[in-house]
Amino acid sequence: MTPGVSMEILDLRHFSAPVLRPVLEAESEIWMQRLHWDYRASCRLLMQYLDNHMLPGYAAVEAGQVMGYTFCVYEETKAVIGDVFALDGINPDLPVPASGDAGAARAIEETLLRHLFETLLNSPQVDRIESQLLLHPAGTHAGVFREAGFELFHRLFMVQPLAGHWGRSHAELPAGLELRHWRDEDLNPAARLISSAYHGHTDSLINDQYNSVYGSMRFLNNIVHYSGCGVFSPLASHVVVDRASQELVALVLGSRVSPQSGHITQICVHPDYRRQGMARLLLGVAGAQFIRQGVSEISLTVTEANTEAVELYRSEGYDTIHTFDAAVWQRNGAS
Ligand SMILES: CC(C)(COP(=O)(O)OP(=O)(O)OC[C@H]1O[C@@H](n2cnc3c(N)ncnc32)[C@H](O)[C@@H]1OP(=O)(O)O)[C@@H](O)C(=O)NCCC(=O)NCCS
Repeated sequence: MTPGVSMEILDLRHFSAPVLRPVLEAESEIWMQRLHWDYRASCRLLMQYLDNHMLPGYAAVEAGQVMGYTFCVYEETKAVIGDVFALDGINPDLPVPASGDAGAARAIEETLLRHLFETLLNSPQVDRIESQLLLHPAGTHAGVFREAGFELFHRLFMVQPLAGHWGRSHAELPAGLELRHWRDEDLNPAARLISSAYHGHTDSLINDQYNSVYGSMRFLNNIVHYSGCGVFSPLASHVVVDRASQELVALVLGSRVSPQSGHITQICVHPDYRRQGMARLLLGVAGAQFIRQGVSEISLTVTEANTEAVELYRSEGYDTIHTFDAAVWQRNGAS
Protein backbone atom coordinates (compact mmCIF):
# COMPACT_ATOMS: atom_id res chain seq x y z
CA MET A 1 0.00 0.00 0.00
CA THR A 2 1.32 3.50 -0.82
CA PRO A 3 0.52 6.60 1.23
CA GLY A 4 -2.17 8.91 -0.19
CA VAL A 5 -1.09 11.33 -2.92
CA SER A 6 -2.04 14.24 -0.69
CA MET A 7 0.43 13.10 1.98
CA GLU A 8 3.23 15.58 2.66
CA ILE A 9 6.48 14.80 4.45
CA LEU A 10 7.65 17.87 6.34
CA ASP A 11 10.49 18.81 8.69
CA LEU A 12 9.48 17.80 12.23
CA ARG A 13 10.87 21.08 13.60
CA HIS A 14 7.90 22.91 12.06
CA PHE A 15 5.52 21.23 14.48
CA SER A 16 4.80 21.73 18.14
CA ALA A 17 3.73 19.07 20.61
CA PRO A 18 -0.09 19.43 20.58
CA VAL A 19 -0.43 18.49 16.88
CA LEU A 20 1.50 15.26 17.47
CA ARG A 21 -0.43 14.35 20.61
CA PRO A 22 -2.97 11.97 18.91
CA VAL A 23 -0.12 10.06 17.27
CA LEU A 24 1.85 9.81 20.53
CA GLU A 25 -1.23 8.72 22.48
CA ALA A 26 -2.03 5.98 19.96
CA GLU A 27 1.59 4.85 20.09
CA SER A 28 1.60 4.80 23.90
CA GLU A 29 -1.39 2.44 23.86
CA ILE A 30 0.49 -0.03 21.69
CA TRP A 31 3.58 0.14 23.93
CA MET A 32 1.38 -0.76 26.87
CA GLN A 33 -0.52 -3.57 25.07
CA ARG A 34 2.50 -5.16 23.46
CA LEU A 35 5.36 -4.58 25.90
CA HIS A 36 3.59 -3.57 29.15
CA TRP A 37 5.65 -0.40 28.95
CA ASP A 38 4.34 3.02 29.96
CA TYR A 39 5.61 5.13 27.08
CA ARG A 40 4.03 8.36 28.37
CA ALA A 41 7.19 9.47 30.21
CA SER A 42 9.18 9.22 26.95
CA CYS A 43 6.35 11.08 25.17
CA ARG A 44 6.58 13.95 27.66
CA LEU A 45 10.30 14.27 26.95
CA LEU A 46 9.67 14.11 23.20
CA MET A 47 7.00 16.79 23.48
CA GLN A 48 9.46 19.12 25.25
CA TYR A 49 11.91 18.67 22.37
CA LEU A 50 9.09 19.22 19.86
CA ASP A 51 8.04 22.43 21.58
CA ASN A 52 11.65 23.62 21.48
CA HIS A 53 11.64 22.85 17.71
CA MET A 54 14.98 21.09 18.04
CA LEU A 55 14.18 17.48 17.14
CA PRO A 56 15.56 16.48 13.71
CA GLY A 57 13.12 14.28 11.82
CA TYR A 58 10.02 14.25 9.64
CA ALA A 59 6.24 14.37 10.07
CA ALA A 60 3.73 12.88 7.63
CA VAL A 61 0.78 15.23 7.14
CA GLU A 62 -2.49 14.52 5.35
CA ALA A 63 -5.45 16.92 5.20
CA GLY A 64 -3.77 19.08 7.83
CA GLN A 65 -3.44 16.22 10.29
CA VAL A 66 -0.12 14.74 11.46
CA MET A 67 -0.35 11.02 10.68
CA GLY A 68 3.11 9.91 11.73
CA TYR A 69 6.63 10.96 12.66
CA THR A 70 10.20 9.85 12.83
CA PHE A 71 13.15 11.45 14.60
CA CYS A 72 16.83 10.98 15.28
CA VAL A 73 19.37 12.29 17.73
CA TYR A 74 23.00 13.03 16.99
CA GLU A 75 25.87 11.79 19.14
CA GLU A 76 28.95 13.40 17.61
CA THR A 77 29.29 11.71 14.17
CA LYS A 78 26.64 9.08 14.85
CA ALA A 79 22.89 9.46 14.32
CA VAL A 80 20.49 7.28 16.32
CA ILE A 81 17.01 6.86 14.83
CA GLY A 82 14.85 7.07 17.93
CA ASP A 83 11.46 6.09 16.56
CA VAL A 84 9.05 5.90 13.66
CA PHE A 85 5.31 5.56 14.10
CA ALA A 86 2.18 6.32 12.06
CA LEU A 87 -1.56 6.15 12.56
CA ASP A 88 -3.56 3.82 10.37
CA GLY A 89 -6.56 6.09 9.80
CA ILE A 90 -7.13 9.77 9.24
CA ASN A 91 -9.47 10.06 12.23
CA PRO A 92 -7.56 9.69 15.50
CA ASP A 93 -10.80 8.70 17.24
CA LEU A 94 -10.84 5.49 15.20
CA PRO A 95 -9.23 2.58 17.03
CA VAL A 96 -5.71 1.81 15.93
CA PRO A 97 -5.36 -1.82 14.80
CA ALA A 98 -3.68 -4.14 17.30
CA SER A 99 -0.65 -4.47 15.04
CA GLY A 100 -0.30 -0.69 14.91
CA ASP A 101 1.91 -1.01 11.87
CA ALA A 102 -0.24 -2.77 9.30
CA GLY A 103 -1.32 -1.42 5.92
CA ALA A 104 -1.39 2.32 5.63
CA ALA A 105 0.56 2.95 8.83
CA ARG A 106 3.42 0.77 7.67
CA ALA A 107 3.59 2.50 4.28
CA ILE A 108 3.70 5.93 5.95
CA GLU A 109 6.43 4.75 8.34
CA GLU A 110 8.52 3.50 5.41
CA THR A 111 8.11 6.81 3.57
CA LEU A 112 9.23 8.66 6.71
CA LEU A 113 12.23 6.36 7.13
CA ARG A 114 13.27 6.83 3.48
CA HIS A 115 13.23 10.61 3.96
CA LEU A 116 15.31 10.34 7.11
CA PHE A 117 17.80 7.96 5.47
CA GLU A 118 18.19 10.32 2.53
CA THR A 119 18.96 13.22 4.86
CA LEU A 120 21.40 11.25 7.01
CA LEU A 121 23.18 9.44 4.17
CA ASN A 122 23.70 12.81 2.49
CA SER A 123 25.12 14.42 5.64
CA PRO A 124 28.90 14.01 5.30
CA GLN A 125 29.41 14.52 9.05
CA VAL A 126 27.31 11.42 9.82
CA ASP A 127 29.48 8.29 9.52
CA ARG A 128 27.27 5.86 11.42
CA ILE A 129 23.53 5.32 11.96
CA GLU A 130 22.04 3.04 14.59
CA SER A 131 18.42 2.15 15.20
CA GLN A 132 16.46 -0.18 17.45
CA LEU A 133 12.75 0.16 16.78
CA LEU A 134 11.64 -1.83 19.80
CA LEU A 135 7.91 -1.54 19.18
CA HIS A 136 7.91 -2.89 15.62
CA PRO A 137 7.98 -6.67 15.24
CA ALA A 138 11.15 -8.03 13.57
CA GLY A 139 10.93 -7.81 9.81
CA THR A 140 8.35 -4.95 9.74
CA HIS A 141 10.78 -2.44 8.23
CA ALA A 142 13.62 -4.81 7.39
CA GLY A 143 13.24 -4.26 3.63
CA VAL A 144 13.57 -0.48 3.75
CA PHE A 145 16.58 -0.66 6.09
CA ARG A 146 18.36 -3.27 3.92
CA GLU A 147 17.62 -1.28 0.76
CA ALA A 148 19.48 1.67 2.33
CA GLY A 149 22.50 -0.51 3.17
CA PHE A 150 21.86 -1.27 6.84
CA GLU A 151 22.92 -4.51 8.53
CA LEU A 152 20.17 -6.06 10.67
CA PHE A 153 20.40 -7.96 13.96
CA HIS A 154 17.53 -9.96 15.42
CA ARG A 155 16.71 -9.07 19.03
CA LEU A 156 14.37 -10.65 21.57
CA PHE A 157 12.11 -9.00 24.13
CA MET A 158 11.89 -11.52 26.98
CA VAL A 159 9.65 -11.51 30.04
CA GLN A 160 9.71 -13.40 33.31
CA PRO A 161 6.51 -13.48 35.38
CA LEU A 162 7.57 -13.14 39.02
CA ALA A 163 4.76 -15.02 40.74
CA GLY A 164 6.01 -18.14 42.50
CA HIS A 165 9.59 -17.65 41.36
CA TRP A 166 11.30 -16.62 44.55
CA GLY A 167 12.52 -17.92 47.83
CA ARG A 168 15.14 -20.18 46.26
CA SER A 169 18.77 -20.12 47.34
CA HIS A 170 21.41 -18.29 45.32
CA ALA A 171 25.04 -19.08 44.54
CA GLU A 172 27.74 -17.95 46.97
CA LEU A 173 30.11 -15.25 45.80
CA PRO A 174 33.78 -16.22 45.37
CA ALA A 175 36.02 -15.06 48.26
CA GLY A 176 37.23 -11.46 48.08
CA LEU A 177 34.10 -10.20 46.32
CA GLU A 178 31.28 -8.16 47.81
CA LEU A 179 27.70 -7.64 46.57
CA ARG A 180 26.09 -4.28 47.25
CA HIS A 181 23.52 -1.80 45.95
CA TRP A 182 24.41 0.57 43.11
CA ARG A 183 25.83 3.98 44.14
CA ASP A 184 26.22 7.04 41.95
CA GLU A 185 30.03 6.94 42.31
CA ASP A 186 29.96 3.53 40.55
CA LEU A 187 29.51 5.26 37.16
CA ASN A 188 33.21 5.37 36.23
CA PRO A 189 34.14 1.82 37.31
CA ALA A 190 30.90 0.55 35.73
CA ALA A 191 31.88 2.16 32.41
CA ARG A 192 35.27 0.37 32.62
CA LEU A 193 33.52 -2.93 33.35
CA ILE A 194 31.06 -2.54 30.44
CA SER A 195 33.76 -1.80 27.91
CA SER A 196 35.76 -4.90 29.05
CA ALA A 197 32.69 -7.14 29.20
CA TYR A 198 31.57 -6.19 25.66
CA HIS A 199 35.00 -6.27 24.00
CA GLY A 200 34.51 -8.10 20.65
CA HIS A 201 30.82 -8.76 21.52
CA THR A 202 27.92 -8.68 18.99
CA ASP A 203 26.21 -5.98 21.05
CA SER A 204 29.13 -3.64 20.45
CA LEU A 205 28.42 -3.96 16.70
CA ILE A 206 24.84 -2.78 17.41
CA ASN A 207 25.71 -0.05 19.92
CA ASP A 208 29.20 1.35 19.43
CA GLN A 209 29.09 3.04 22.86
CA TYR A 210 30.15 -0.33 24.29
CA ASN A 211 33.47 -0.07 22.40
CA SER A 212 35.02 2.47 24.75
CA VAL A 213 34.95 3.60 28.37
CA TYR A 214 33.82 7.05 27.22
CA GLY A 215 30.95 5.58 25.18
CA SER A 216 29.95 3.25 28.04
CA MET A 217 29.84 6.30 30.32
CA ARG A 218 27.38 7.99 27.93
CA PHE A 219 25.28 4.85 27.84
CA LEU A 220 25.22 4.69 31.65
CA ASN A 221 24.43 8.37 32.08
CA ASN A 222 21.48 8.01 29.75
CA ILE A 223 20.13 5.06 31.73
CA VAL A 224 20.87 6.29 35.24
CA HIS A 225 20.28 10.04 34.98
CA TYR A 226 18.01 10.61 31.97
CA SER A 227 15.50 7.73 32.14
CA GLY A 228 16.74 6.52 28.74
CA CYS A 229 15.13 3.14 29.35
CA GLY A 230 12.38 3.55 31.95
CA VAL A 231 12.86 5.12 35.38
CA PHE A 232 16.17 3.96 36.87
CA SER A 233 15.74 1.82 39.99
CA PRO A 234 18.74 2.19 42.34
CA LEU A 235 17.14 -0.45 44.60
CA ALA A 236 17.07 -3.14 41.92
CA SER A 237 20.57 -2.23 40.67
CA HIS A 238 23.56 -4.02 42.20
CA VAL A 239 27.29 -4.35 41.71
CA VAL A 240 29.86 -6.98 42.66
CA VAL A 241 33.10 -5.35 43.83
CA ASP A 242 36.58 -6.83 44.18
CA ARG A 243 37.43 -5.77 47.78
CA ALA A 244 41.18 -5.55 47.07
CA SER A 245 41.12 -3.39 43.92
CA GLN A 246 37.68 -1.79 44.46
CA GLU A 247 37.03 -2.47 40.75
CA LEU A 248 33.60 -3.74 39.69
CA VAL A 249 33.54 -7.29 38.37
CA ALA A 250 29.81 -7.57 37.63
CA LEU A 251 26.68 -5.46 37.65
CA VAL A 252 22.95 -5.51 37.06
CA LEU A 253 20.94 -2.34 36.41
CA GLY A 254 17.16 -2.19 36.63
CA SER A 255 14.44 0.31 35.84
CA ARG A 256 10.65 0.56 36.09
CA VAL A 257 8.88 0.71 32.73
CA SER A 258 5.38 0.65 34.28
CA PRO A 259 3.99 0.15 37.78
CA GLN A 260 3.80 -3.63 37.18
CA SER A 261 6.91 -4.10 35.02
CA GLY A 262 10.56 -3.96 35.94
CA HIS A 263 13.22 -3.99 33.21
CA ILE A 264 16.84 -5.18 33.28
CA THR A 265 18.66 -2.45 31.37
CA GLN A 266 22.13 -3.98 31.75
CA ILE A 267 23.78 -7.09 33.12
CA CYS A 268 27.40 -8.02 32.59
CA VAL A 269 30.21 -9.94 34.22
CA HIS A 270 33.94 -9.33 33.64
CA PRO A 271 35.38 -12.11 31.39
CA ASP A 272 37.70 -13.30 34.22
CA TYR A 273 34.73 -14.05 36.51
CA ARG A 274 32.30 -15.84 34.19
CA ARG A 275 30.58 -19.22 34.69
CA GLN A 276 30.60 -18.87 38.49
CA GLY A 277 26.89 -18.16 38.82
CA MET A 278 27.33 -14.39 39.22
CA ALA A 279 24.83 -13.30 36.54
CA ARG A 280 22.26 -15.73 37.95
CA LEU A 281 22.86 -14.29 41.42
CA LEU A 282 22.45 -10.71 40.17
CA LEU A 283 19.21 -11.50 38.34
CA GLY A 284 17.99 -13.06 41.60
CA VAL A 285 18.76 -10.03 43.78
CA ALA A 286 17.28 -7.60 41.23
CA GLY A 287 14.13 -9.77 41.02
CA ALA A 288 13.75 -9.87 44.80
CA GLN A 289 13.96 -6.06 44.97
CA PHE A 290 11.45 -5.68 42.14
CA ILE A 291 9.02 -7.92 44.02
CA ARG A 292 9.37 -5.70 47.09
CA GLN A 293 8.40 -2.75 44.87
CA GLY A 294 5.19 -4.51 43.81
CA VAL A 295 6.40 -5.47 40.34
CA SER A 296 4.78 -8.60 38.82
CA GLU A 297 7.07 -9.20 35.83
CA ILE A 298 10.56 -8.37 34.59
CA SER A 299 11.45 -7.78 30.96
CA LEU A 300 14.74 -7.41 29.12
CA THR A 301 16.08 -7.32 25.58
CA VAL A 302 18.82 -9.54 24.20
CA THR A 303 20.43 -10.11 20.82
CA GLU A 304 19.44 -13.55 19.53
CA ALA A 305 23.08 -14.32 18.61
CA ASN A 306 24.15 -13.75 22.25
CA THR A 307 23.53 -17.40 23.02
CA GLU A 308 25.16 -17.37 26.51
CA ALA A 309 22.81 -14.65 27.68
CA VAL A 310 19.74 -16.16 25.96
CA GLU A 311 20.57 -19.48 27.68
CA LEU A 312 20.92 -17.72 31.03
CA TYR A 313 17.56 -15.96 30.69
CA ARG A 314 15.72 -19.08 29.51
CA SER A 315 17.10 -21.03 32.45
CA GLU A 316 15.85 -18.26 34.75
CA GLY A 317 12.28 -18.50 33.39
CA TYR A 318 12.29 -15.71 30.78
CA ASP A 319 10.25 -16.29 27.60
CA THR A 320 10.37 -14.37 24.31
CA ILE A 321 7.10 -12.45 23.83
CA HIS A 322 8.24 -10.16 21.00
CA THR A 323 11.10 -9.81 18.54
CA PHE A 324 12.46 -6.67 16.89
CA ASP A 325 15.33 -5.53 14.66
CA ALA A 326 18.43 -3.54 15.45
CA ALA A 327 19.90 -1.85 12.37
CA VAL A 328 23.34 -0.37 11.74
CA TRP A 329 24.73 1.58 8.81
CA GLN A 330 28.38 2.51 8.58
CA ARG A 331 29.83 4.92 6.02
CA ASN A 332 32.50 3.22 3.88
CA GLY A 333 35.92 3.68 5.39
CA ALA A 334 34.60 4.92 8.75
CA SER A 335 35.82 2.91 11.72
C1 LIG B 1 25.90 -13.36 29.78
C2 LIG B 1 26.74 -13.15 31.04
C3 LIG B 1 26.17 -11.97 31.82
C4 LIG B 1 26.68 -14.43 31.88
O1 LIG B 1 27.39 -14.20 33.09
P1 LIG B 1 27.96 -15.40 33.98
O2 LIG B 1 28.19 -14.89 35.37
O3 LIG B 1 29.09 -16.05 33.29
O4 LIG B 1 26.70 -16.41 33.99
P2 LIG B 1 26.41 -17.50 35.09
O5 LIG B 1 27.69 -18.12 35.55
O6 LIG B 1 25.51 -16.95 36.13
O7 LIG B 1 25.64 -18.59 34.20
C5 LIG B 1 24.29 -18.86 34.39
C6 LIG B 1 23.79 -19.68 33.20
O8 LIG B 1 23.87 -18.94 31.99
C7 LIG B 1 24.20 -19.82 30.90
N1 LIG B 1 25.53 -19.47 30.39
C8 LIG B 1 26.36 -18.52 30.87
N2 LIG B 1 27.49 -18.48 30.12
C9 LIG B 1 27.36 -19.43 29.16
C10 LIG B 1 28.20 -19.88 28.10
N3 LIG B 1 29.40 -19.32 27.86
N4 LIG B 1 27.74 -20.86 27.33
C11 LIG B 1 26.53 -21.43 27.54
N5 LIG B 1 25.70 -21.08 28.55
C12 LIG B 1 26.11 -20.08 29.35
C13 LIG B 1 24.19 -21.21 31.48
O9 LIG B 1 22.86 -21.68 31.44
C14 LIG B 1 24.60 -20.93 32.92
O10 LIG B 1 24.20 -21.95 33.81
P3 LIG B 1 25.24 -23.16 34.14
O11 LIG B 1 26.57 -22.52 34.43
O12 LIG B 1 24.59 -23.81 35.30
O13 LIG B 1 25.29 -24.00 32.89
C15 LIG B 1 28.24 -12.90 30.69
O14 LIG B 1 28.66 -13.87 29.76
C16 LIG B 1 28.52 -11.53 30.12
O15 LIG B 1 28.78 -10.57 30.84
N6 LIG B 1 28.48 -11.39 28.77
C17 LIG B 1 28.74 -10.10 28.11
C18 LIG B 1 27.65 -9.10 28.41
C19 LIG B 1 26.29 -9.62 28.00
O16 LIG B 1 26.11 -10.29 26.98
N7 LIG B 1 25.27 -9.27 28.79
C20 LIG B 1 23.89 -9.61 28.51
C21 LIG B 1 23.31 -8.61 27.54
S1 LIG B 1 21.62 -8.95 27.19
